[in-house]
Amino acid sequence: KNPTLSISAVSHNVTTPEAQDAIKRALAKEAVGLVKSGMVVGLGTGSTASIAIQELGALITQGKLKNVVAVGANYQSRVLARQYGVKTVDLNDINNIDIAFDGADEVDFNKNILKGGGAAHTMQKVVDSVAKECVILADQSKIVYQLGSTFPVPVEVIPPAISPVLRRLVTLGGIPEIRSALRKDGPVITDLGNMVVDVSFPNGIENPAELEKSINLIPGVVENGIVSGIATSVLVAIQDGDSVTVM
Ligand code: 5RP
Repeated sequence: KNPTLSISAVSHNVTTPEAQDAIKRALAKEAVGLVKSGMVVGLGTGSTASIAIQELGALITQGKLKNVVAVGANYQSRVLARQYGVKTVDLNDINNIDIAFDGADEVDFNKNILKGGGAAHTMQKVVDSVAKECVILADQSKIVYQLGSTFPVPVEVIPPAISPVLRRLVTLGGIPEIRSALRKDGPVITDLGNMVVDVSFPNGIENPAELEKSINLIPGVVENGIVSGIATSVLVAIQDGDSVTVM
């Protein structure tokens, strides 16, 4: 796995929801075009990965792909897979994953990824790291020069350790905030029963791999959303007027 991402320019356009959907679908079609019959496919989470699951299901239903099974990173992807006709298997019952698709909140030019906008990054990282090929699907708004520019770093924490973990995150230069559930009183609780802390780094993240390790060394932290050295390729959709190019 040799991460480098060659893109010459970064531009952030404001687009409509319909245009966003077209971009995600173009990425999804390109991604599922990489799947071959007989493969084990890892399924990520989020709106882009969900469209890829839908497109994968379409190829299977049309008989264009045979004997494909999938490992869903969490409940959402497993439920969607079954809904669209993709057979799922348990990660613990297989020895390897041929290819995994996943979305991202940010991607830098070295294929470092920031994930966890949906509080599902822990198992996504497990599935992505098992895969021989890990393909990240990103529209151009996700491309950044430095991780942490537009999103905080999500950190999954076991609830009894929340206070000491918050203090340790401050010593790393972060400003931590416990993620709260929309329209409910109380914190977001992940599929794994933990809390999520979103940590902003106002001085920027100079070395994503180092910060990823430092955060994971704090006792009580389960996993954080920085993913370095795992993505093997990044598909980027660039919108130009009505046309979308995936590169
Ligand atoms: C969820 C994730 C998602 O992959 C990430 O938030 C991107 O989602 P979307 O494709 O909806 O923009 O990491 O935890």
